[in-house]
Amino acid sequence: MCGIVGYIGKKEAYPVIVKGLQRLEYRGYDSAGVALLNGDLNIYKKKGKVVDLHEFAKDKDLSSTVGIGHTRWATHGEPNDVNAHPHTSQSGKLAMIHNGIIENYAALKTDLLKKGYSFQSDTDSEVFINFIEDIYINTDVDLAEAVRLALTKVVGAYAIAIISLDDPTLMIAARKGSPLVVGIGKDEFFLASDATPIIEYTNEVVYLDDQEIAIIKDNSLTIKNIEDVELKPYIQTVDMELEAIEKGGYDHFMLKEIFEQPKSIGDCLRGRLKSNEGKLVLGGINDYVNKIMNADRILIVACGTSWHAGLVAEYIFEEFCRIPVEVEYASEFRYRNPVVSEKDVVIAISQSGETADTLAAISLAKSRGATILGVCNVVGSSIARATHAGSYTHAGPEIGVASTKAFTAQISVLTMMALMIAQKKGTLSERDYHNLLVELESIPDKVAKALDLNAQIEYISEIYKDATNFLYLGRGYNFPVALEGALKLKEISYIHAEGYPAAEMKHGPIALIDENMPVVFIATHDSSYEKIVSNIQEVKARKGQVIAIVSEGDTEIPKMADHVIEVPHTHDALMPLIAVIPQQLLSYHIAVMRGCNVDQPRNLAKSVTVE
Ligand code: F6R
Repeated sequence: MCGIVGYIGKKEAYPVIVKGLQRLEYRGYDSAGVALLNGDLNIYKKKGKVVDLHEFAKDKDLSSTVGIGHTRWATHGEPNDVNAHPHTSQSGKLAMIHNGIIENYAALKTDLLKKGYSFQSDTDSEVFINFIEDIYINTDVDLAEAVRLALTKVVGAYAIAIISLDDPTLMIAARKGSPLVVGIGKDEFFLASDATPIIEYTNEVVYLDDQEIAIIKDNSLTIKNIEDVELKPYIQTVDMELEAIEKGGYDHFMLKEIFEQPKSIGDCLRGRLKSNEGKLVLGGINDYVNKIMNADRILIVACGTSWHAGLVAEYIFEEFCRIPVEVEYASEFRYRNPVVSEKDVVIAISQSGETADTLAAISLAKSRGATILGVCNVVGSSIARATHAGSYTHAGPEIGVASTKAFTAQISVLTMMALMIAQKKGTLSERDYHNLLVELESIPDKVAKALDLNAQIEYISEIYKDATNFLYLGRGYNFPVALEGALKLKEISYIHAEGYPAAEMKHGPIALIDENMPVVFIATHDSSYEKIVSNIQEVKARKGQVIAIVSEGDTEIPKMADHVIEVPHTHDALMPLIAVIPQQLLSYHIAVMRGCNVDQPRNLAKSVTVE
């Protein structure tokens, strides 16, 4: 995710752009840049936040009424000055900002290299603008047409804005998969990833649809699609408070991030998994596949929600790859004297990539010769840099302190890793491998269906919002989901909650059960279904209140549970990706009803950079 802003009109462009970029920093903030036309094409870009860009640019020539700006959340290439946007074409005449990922950039780059192009950055975006320039200078078309032709050939997601030194009255924008809004003012136009940078100047906007191109030329706007059909702009009036738009219309970042999961899981799988080709590619760990296959064991180090994702991964790796796995709290691992050797592979899982305990665990394991892989969300973060290799989760910035979309993206990446190894190792039949790929590809749609349960879960939350304790119980793959459900509830609603393997209940926690104890069972139709049905009966016999998360069509559990939440069915190993959704919503609604600060719970920070 990145934020983009453009301005063309009579005002000074730079202040409009910089202010807009600051509003979009929630979309990414590892580097920022602007391109301004004023007889020359002046480009200023800097690693860091928009404020760092401004510090760098403020004494430079900023006079211009046409410009584009970008705040980056790195995907291709580490965050640094060179990889920051805007990117220019080889001739130095075209400048582009891009939000998205061009999946076929490697093939385009190879062709352009053969034609003599050279590249300064590691980004797909620099390839993209040169691909456009190559069409522009080698065919008899104007720039807008060259952009359109290029868009028919690129694969992936984009929101782009382009300006040209040859024509300061022109700005071209297009989108597919990444958002883009055109603001229409008096003798001026704005572009932005969302309406927040625009609304203080005009409330008239056009939300571009996928595969639409906006051409702003000589103070007028033309919209066409990539089939070259001109479209009538659908102008809408924005009537929203600034803060609400920043949260994309949601009351809290947490809710927005819960609802983003069909997309964030889709982004995580995109370009890596193609079930119809039986293809699974995790470029970042390609060179380490043999090492993982032959590892004595896999050690997973992580904290909090990331540790729960690690537990799910343990079950998946052991089942499919037949490699022993141990999951360690990074904070414990680093302070004991663990046995680690060069035949071990360590996987460090971290959303922020900055968690101090996880970093320390990595350096301990490294000092003992182990190979370290990272599963991080934040590109270029300390953990991503400290590992030998890894795969990013591509979930987009997670702003709510309670982790939601990072968890499902981590499990998605770890599942892909395990399936890749299992196939190469031959520990999974081709048929099972293929079925799992198909099932994994269907997860974003199934998560979307689980999100449709929001109203039912809000209703259940109202009943239990004043509870003082909760128990979460699950077996097998659903045991880590129980732990995660309990953590989500306690951290944002301050209700004491415990997660347990359902079978362990009889060894202690069953003593807690009475008519005041809500018990969330994750009881989907898997290999331990019959056993968990018995556990539900044990709770009901002691008058506990049962909220059961079950597979669609279950007829058994509704006869005994107080509330039944039916989620789409999937393979046992993938169920955590779906079963966690109602739990996230339950904790969110209960916390809101209790008047808690959901996005910034007391005593917590988004990234724990202290021991
Ligand atoms: C829980 C939560 C924390 C983090 C933990 C690790 O909702 O957000 O438990 O999961 O602090 O953080 P990362 O994944 O950034 O290393």
